[in-house]
Amino acid sequence: MSRLALGILGSGKGSNCRAILAKIRRGELAADCRLVVSDVADAGILEVAREFGVPDVFLSPGKFRAKLEPEVEQQLVRRLHEAGVELVVLAGFMRVLKSTILQAFPRRIINLHPSLLPKFPGREAWAQALAAGEKVTGCTVHFVDAGVDSGEIIAQREVPILPNDTPATLHERIQLAERELFPAVIAELAAKMATAKS
Ligand code: GAR
Repeated sequence: MSRLALGILGSGKGSNCRAILAKIRRGELAADCRLVVSDVADAGILEVAREFGVPDVFLSPGKFRAKLEPEVEQQLVRRLHEAGVELVVLAGFMRVLKSTILQAFPRRIINLHPSLLPKFPGREAWAQALAAGEKVTGCTVHFVDAGVDSGEIIAQREVPILPNDTPATLHERIQLAERELFPAVIAELAAKMATAKS
C-alpha cells in the first residue's frame, strides 16, 4: 500500500505529533511525515521532529497574532509542496489558515480540537467546557475550512468531566484521548486515500 505523505504543523509541545510519529515508527500507520512546521521558534514540536529524524522548519509568522502573514502562508505552501505533502495535519497549530493554503490543499487539511465541536471553538476549549458546567467534553478531528474550528467533523471522542477537575487535569485527560483519536483518524484517511489512488 502506498504511504500517505504528511506535513504536521504545530505551535506547542508536540505530544500529538509524537503520537503520530511513534505510530508510524511502530508500523501501525501507513504514512511518512515529510515535514514538521512551527510558527514558534522554540516549540517542543520541532524537537520532537528532530528526535524522529523528520525535517523541521520554523516559519516566522509576521505581524499578526492569529494568522500568518500572507507571504508566510505562501512560503508554507511552497515548503509543503516541495516536500510532496498530501495531507496537512494541524497538531496544536494556533493560527487560523487563510485561502492560500486552503485552496492549495482542498479537504486535505485536518485539525485536532480539544472539545466536542461545535461546542467551545477557540482557545482553551477545556477551560471553556469546565466553566460552562458541562459533564462531558472531549476532542474532535475535523477538516479545516475558512472558519475557526468549524469544518466538517470526521471523528470525536468523549471525555467525562470529573467533580474535582481543574483546567489542567481536564486538559491532561483530553490529551490522552487525543493521542489515541488523532493517529487513528489519520490511519483511516491514509487507507481511504490509498484505495482512491489505486
Ligand atoms: C492539543 O490539546 C490540541 O487539541 C490543541 O492544542 C494542543 C496541542 O498539544 N489545539 C487547539 O486548541 C486548536 N484549537 P500538543 O502540542 O501537545 O500536541
